[in-house]
Amino acid sequence: MAIQQTLILIKPDGLKRRLTGLSIDRLDASGLEMVAARVVSVSDALAREHYKSLSDKPFFANLIRYIRGEFHGFKDSRVLALVYRGEDAIKRVRAIAGATNPEQAEPGTLRGSFGRITTEGQFENVIHASSDPADAEREVALWFKPEEILAAPQG
Ligand code: PPS
Repeated sequence: MAIQQTLILIKPDGLKRRLTGLSIDRLDASGLEMVAARVVSVSDALAREHYKSLSDKPFFANLIRYIRGEFHGFKDSRVLALVYRGEDAIKRVRAIAGATNPEQAEPGTLRGSFGRITTEGQFENVIHASSDPADAEREVALWFKPEEILAAPQG
């Protein structure tokens, strides 16, 4: 199995509801390694670049507003961006997160326990996790400079 890096964002609802520690606890317990972490105030440009493959979706505008914290107190909006590394990391982190739609997420996963769909139909699913190796590579490079990521052990 390949060693992978994957991007995780603890989203504004996760921070506002004080789920940061719990989320990191679950990720750490997996045995994967945290190799980068940064608190980020998300610009419009960064949000649009991150979700660019979804720009034609009807929920795109609200997705941008959500990740920028507009639904959770815009003035101190932020996300916690993390990179975890390890064997099969992308799939393992997705399993901890649970299904994208909080109503379909398995009980006990982060989204299954703490996600919700608002009355306006917006997913508030606590955490973003890269979906595949190409996405993970693109997203890690978008949110982190190479020098902000702990180097992989040699040999
Ligand atoms: S996945 O699992 O990333 O492949 O999911 P996908 O279905 O392609 O969704 C991509 C992101 O869009 C968000 N999403 C939505 N937001 C609001 N309303 C609706 N209906 C909706 N459907 C999908 C979803 O949360 C994904 O964002 P992240 O940040 O990965 O959670």
